[in-house]
Amino acid sequence: MGIVDYQQEIQELKKANRIIQKKLERSESDRIKLEDINTKKESLLRKVIDELKEYQNKLEERSHELEIMLLNLQIMQNKMSTLGSLVAEVAHEINNPVGFIAGNLTPAKEYIHNLLHLIDLYQQTYPKASQKIQETIEVIDLEYVREDLPKLISSMREGTDRISNISNSLRTFSRADTEQKVLFNIHEGINSTLLILKHRLKANKIRPCIQVVKDYGEFPLVKCFPGQLNQVFMNLLANAIDALEESNSGLSFDEIKKNPNQITIHTSLTEDNNHVLIRIQDNGLGISADVQQKMFDHLFTTKPVGKGTGLGLSIAYQIIAQKHKGTLKVNSVLGVGSEFIITIPFF
Ligand SMILES: Nc1ncnc2c1ncn2[C@@H]1O[C@H](COP(=O)(O)OP(=O)(O)OP(=O)(O)O)[C@@H](O)[C@H]1O
Ligand SMILES: [Mg+2]
Repeated sequence: MGIVDYQQEIQELKKANRIIQKKLERSESDRIKLEDINTKKESLLRKVIDELKEYQNKLEERSHELEIMLLNLQIMQNKMSTLGSLVAEVAHEINNPVGFIAGNLTPAKEYIHNLLHLIDLYQQTYPKASQKIQETIEVIDLEYVREDLPKLISSMREGTDRISNISNSLRTFSRADTEQKVLFNIHEGINSTLLILKHRLKANKIRPCIQVVKDYGEFPLVKCFPGQLNQVFMNLLANAIDALEESNSGLSFDEIKKNPNQITIHTSLTEDNNHVLIRIQDNGLGISADVQQKMFDHLFTTKPVGKGTGLGLSIAYQIIAQKHKGTLKVNSVLGVGSEFIITIPFF
């Protein structure tokens, strides 16, 4: 090989070297870029991992809270069902002695009537009573006794009637549901719930009593879970009372009296005759569109802690929609009032 050939090879080698050098430089810059990207990716990934960890911690905390809440609810449910059967038993036990009193009132009235008649006969037969008898007649005020005794018996009868009404309502209200639906008189359910809520409906220092207007239609018994339906009535009526009380704030007794607090309960058949329609209206605060969207949600409440848990409507919804395949809807105008509309199929 001659010198020229060597020089040419050297030139080529130099060229190849330059190319390699350039390639090396490029790949070095690529490497740096890649490293940079990797560092960025790594830090992003670390951030995502950190966020996920934080989220996981939060979820764990929330699930722990929910577990405790569920446990509390189960304890409450258990307590309620124990209380329910206790109430039903006590109510049943009260019925017996009240039955004795009520049962004896009719013969007592008859005996009294007979005794008074006997005194009349004595007085007619022996108009001239002895001094002692005349004195005793005055001392015991026979005329007054004669007038008052029937009233006394009637008021005793009213008392026993009221006790047995309360005890029957307690029994109706605290009915334990069975697996199967049973035939139930919806009006008895509503009436027993109203009686249990009586202490919240009656007048107090702040306001006159809440007026309850019943507009009951006529329809046959409904196949349902009575204990659960009573719970729905209780939740809706308690909400109505809360809304009325809230609407009273800032008003005087007389101002409330002019536009009295009112709950109206309408019941009827639907047009197709296949459902019962129950409407519970109040002239309370009304419900804003925003609250209407959320109020059937579990744990949604606008009431202060200790007053509301936000369970009432979500439970009512479940009972009506899922357990009874019915519907629960609301109509409301702010400042005018609210209406909850239930439909339940007959079967
Ligand atoms: N009749 C009503 N008038 C006005 N607002 C109502 C009425 N019924 C329900 N609401 C609103 O819907 C919310 C949810 O009601 P829900 O019965 O589910 O819970 P709560 O009454 O707040 O608490 P809880 O029933 O568990 O004691 C209430 O906080 C209230 O804001
Ligand atoms: Mg409620």
